[in-house]
Amino acid sequence: MSESTRRAFIQTSAAAAASLSLVPGAFAASDDTLRVGLVGCGGRGTGAAKQALRADPKVKLVAMCDAFMDRLEDSLRELNGIKDIKDKIAVTPDTKFDGFDGYKKLLEQVDVVLLCTPPGFRPIHLRAAIEAGKHVFCEKPVAVDVAGAKSVMETARLAKQKNVSLCSGYCYRYDYAKRETVKRIHDGAIGDVSAMHITYLTGPIWHRGNDPKWSPMEYQMRNWYYFTWLSGDFIVEQHCHNFDKANWVFGGKMPIAATGVGGRQQRRDPKYGHIYDHFAVTLEYANGAKLFSFCRQMERCDGNVNDHVIGTRGSAQLMAHSISSPGGKDWEFGSETKVKDMYQVEHDELFAGIRSGKFINDGENAANSTLMALLARESAYCGKRLTWKQLLASNQNLAPKQYAWGPIETPPVPTPGIYTFA
Ligand SMILES: NC(=O)c1ccc[n+]([C@@H]2O[C@H](COP(=O)([O-])OP(=O)(O)OC[C@H]3O[C@@H](n4cnc5c(N)ncnc54)[C@H](O)[C@@H]3O)[C@@H](O)[C@H]2O)c1
Repeated sequence: MSESTRRAFIQTSAAAAASLSLVPGAFAASDDTLRVGLVGCGGRGTGAAKQALRADPKVKLVAMCDAFMDRLEDSLRELNGIKDIKDKIAVTPDTKFDGFDGYKKLLEQVDVVLLCTPPGFRPIHLRAAIEAGKHVFCEKPVAVDVAGAKSVMETARLAKQKNVSLCSGYCYRYDYAKRETVKRIHDGAIGDVSAMHITYLTGPIWHRGNDPKWSPMEYQMRNWYYFTWLSGDFIVEQHCHNFDKANWVFGGKMPIAATGVGGRQQRRDPKYGHIYDHFAVTLEYANGAKLFSFCRQMERCDGNVNDHVIGTRGSAQLMAHSISSPGGKDWEFGSETKVKDMYQVEHDELFAGIRSGKFINDGENAANSTLMALLARESAYCGKRLTWKQLLASNQNLAPKQYAWGPIETPPVPTPGIYTFA
């Protein structure tokens, strides 16, 4: 089959399956293999590739791209060593791409793309993929600045027009136990939600060292977590999961303002770029409800990752999947109930949607959850109450002047009262 005939075949088959309400995977002819490409071959990208290859019987990993060829090769070696998926790997020397523009060449080779780079690149990669008519799995967060989040919102609309899937890596929404818990909250099990307390208190994560051969850009790219243009700071990069759960619990209603504090007490070495190591933010909703957000990444401190929902008639713990009323424990998701790993469910549902023509689109939720984290970050950085309207009126764009190996500045650590939100 020629390329255009093949694409038409997959799309027509999906549409036909949708109109006939066929079960996922109900294709009649032979060349219905979905060709997958991975962009960003780190820990999560390698995991996502495994899950994609296990999600559907006729899927092949045909292309990979990473800023660095050594990272791509490590990932490919790992994937090739896994018994149940190695026969589905068809990456050749001609379909390995590196550098900043590698994703463009990869997009020419695939039907489905897994976007797993640091989030600073997500809006650009996502737009290019959807414009090219590809189905996408796209890790969280989806942006590091307001311009990026707005771009993702537009791209999500485009995905709907183009009938392609956009599945986000806000994975808790794909966890059966959390789905059941949130459904009960939405059904009124704890009355009206008046507050939510979200915590992401952990230890520090990796630092990948330095090498005199690396340019400042290579140093930042390899240690991307510590640079806001690449990661969004850890409140956006990691705590965004909790913001997404709050977005879910509050039924997609966005906060009207945030007031935050934050700073860095342990991450003082310049090797840690310019991100903070703790934040505490209160977000306000139009109906008076509050979202209290705490995140910290420090050594020798207590850990706690939780989402506590407080309602007018009880409370719920999302991580424990339990609901309590003032008189005692009412409901808990049975620990004896076997549930599938949420990371696998994301891909199972993505591929089932592609096969059936019922395309997933998580884009708007993903952009909004990311914006909530941006609102919280910026209020703490500037030391001001920041409104949702002010956030959306901004076109904050943290991208560097150019994506090229060589010199790049490290911005100062934001000082509240001095830093301004543009
Ligand atoms: N949903 C989850 O639970 C979860 C868990 C872990 C990570 N993640 C997300 O996945 C993303 C990646 O995280 P990770 O832990 O795999 O990081 P990682 O550093 O292990 O991998 C990222 C890879 O992307 C590559 N890369 C950077 N810029 C690129 C570009 N422009 N083009 C191609 N490749 C590029 C890097 O070289 C690196 O190999 C992050 O957004 C992170 O938040 C999500």
